This record gives sequence, C-alpha cells and structure tokens, in this order.
Amino acid sequence: MPAPETLSTGLIQVFRKSEDAIRAELGAGLLAPHATISPKYLYDALGSRLFAAICELPEYYPTRTEAAIVETHMAEIAAAAGQGATLIDLGAGNCAKAARLFPTLQPRHYVPVDISVDFLRDAVALLHQRFPHMPITGVGLDFSHALDLPDVIDKTGRLFFYPGSSIGNFTPTEAENFLRGLHAACHGDGGLLIGVDLVKDASLLDAAYDDALGVTAAFNRNLLLHLNALLGADFDVRDWRHRGFFNAGQSRIEMHLEAMRDVRVGWRGGERRFAAGERIHTENSYKYTHAGFVQLLERAGFGEIKIWSDPQTWFMLCHARALPASQTAFR
Ligand code: AVI
Repeated sequence: MPAPETLSTGLIQVFRKSEDAIRAELGAGLLAPHATISPKYLYDALGSRLFAAICELPEYYPTRTEAAIVETHMAEIAAAAGQGATLIDLGAGNCAKAARLFPTLQPRHYVPVDISVDFLRDAVALLHQRFPHMPITGVGLDFSHALDLPDVIDKTGRLFFYPGSSIGNFTPTEAENFLRGLHAACHGDGGLLIGVDLVKDASLLDAAYDDALGVTAAFNRNLLLHLNALLGADFDVRDWRHRGFFNAGQSRIEMHLEAMRDVRVGWRGGERRFAAGERIHTENSYKYTHAGFVQLLERAGFGEIKIWSDPQTWFMLCHARALPASQTAFR
C-alpha cells in the first residue's frame, strides 16, 4: 500500500476590524438611547471559558440536546449531507463538535472559521495530530459581517456547519440575509447542517439563561471587563446585575446588564450616566418553530430540508441543500 500523503495545515486571517473602528462601534452603542453592545464582545478569553461552563450547566439544555440528536441520528445525517465534503465550521472554537462528525462524514478538507485565528491555533494543532492526513485550513474571519472565504477553499462540494443555535443570535431579518449569503457561498451545489433552538415553555428558557449558579450572569457581566479593556472604560462590575428572560412577543431570550444604582461611566472619548434600573442590551437569542425556520431556509434558497429532533422537541438539527437559483422559492 502506498504511504498516505501528508497534507499541510494552514491558518489564514482574512479581515479584522481596526481597534479604532471597534472603539467607535462600542462608543456609539453605549451612547445610543437604548444602549446596546453586540453579543460578539461577550467572547474574550474569560468569556469563552464562561460560555464553555454554561454549556455544562444543568439548565442550559441546547448543547447536550444537540449532541444527543447528532449521536442518535448520525447515519441519517451522513446520508443527507454526504461524505467527502469541504466542511466549513462557522464559529468553530475548539472544533470539538465538528471533530465528532469526521469519522462518519470523512470531509476532504476541514475549514474551521472563527473571528480570530488566535482562537483556532491550538485546536487546529491538536486536530492535525489526531487526523494527520486531513487538510485543515483555519480561517480568522468575522463571518457575521461578510462570508469572504479565501480562494484556497474549493467552491464546490461545500457543507457549512453552524451548530449550537448561534443563528438565534441574529434577528430573523439578519438570519435570512446570513442564510442567503451561505446559499450564495454554496455555488449551487453545497449544503448546510444547522442547529436551531425551538420555542418551549418560558420557565425552561428563563432558567437556561439565568441559571442558579450565576454562570450566565458572570458571562454577561464579564462583558463590562472586556469593554474596560477595549475602550479604556471604568465600568465597576459590582454596579451591574444580569437580566436574562424570555420575551414571548418577540420569541427571543433577551440579555441585559442593569445598573443597580445611578452610575457614571467614562471611556476614552466618551461618558454616560446610567440611572438605576437602566439597561445595556447585550444579546438576543431567538427561538424558532419548525415551520418558521423551514420557511426562513426556503426564502434563503435552500430545499430538500431534513430535520432531526430530540423526544421533547426542544432543539432541532436541519440539513438543507442549496438549490440552484432556477429552483429556489420566493426569489
Ligand atoms: C452562542 N449562543 C448560541 C448562545 C445562546 O444560547 O444564544 C449564547 C448564550 N448566551 C447565554 N447563554 C448562552
């Protein structure tokens, strides 16, 4: 038998917002009448560790429910998604979810994408040891902004993997635009494997985003430490409490940071007074129905949609094929 070819592993950083542009975005968010900060700023080094801890909490069902769906339905998922794809893992982090798919899906090229290659470096090195013959290209890219994948990634045979219901962190309009971007990036023949959190009893949702140990509260409040670092701000974490609750009218979890007393916050180039009870909106996490999400996929140009769920229908995993432009619904 010929010796298997050893293939190289690369890391590519595509585009990174300048520090000035980040500071301008954050300052504008803090000065808006209803102060808002994008949830992507929840993930500094500590925030990423706190999010990993959230995924272990008894109340936070999405991670383990999705993992159980994958485990139970792996053969059907592989039949729908096919083998030998270029597997593009959006928001890959430690790459663990995708790595569980490798033995069955046998991707011909694995492309973990995260906002910075720094988040991927260690995971890619470990994967390269475990799967030495699989080409791996880590891409640092803010894909919520634009999906400009480098030219070295094959344009055909793409399988986008977007687990964890991160799609819920976009508004439905943003989600549709994002899915349209994925459809375009499939170039008429690829597909999408996506995890979606479903509408359920509000008490379960409230508990998942306001857990008894206070880990989600720490995750949210840590955003203030990240703002202090990025903006040179002087937030005192002890002045702020976590609010996380289901807004049924909008079908979304909302996370806010609420001032516990009147506070003045300063940063390089700005300041604001927050009255006691005033909030900074830090995250939305939309919850979908089966039908609502299928419609969204169809509007974005996907079809042949297959869905797997858990026995309680708390979460679903969908595979959808990118239809050629001539066959898409609602163009
Ligand atoms: C990353 N994202 C899908 C999580 C969610 O459930 O919306 C982030 C999170 N926020 C609080 N807990 C988890």
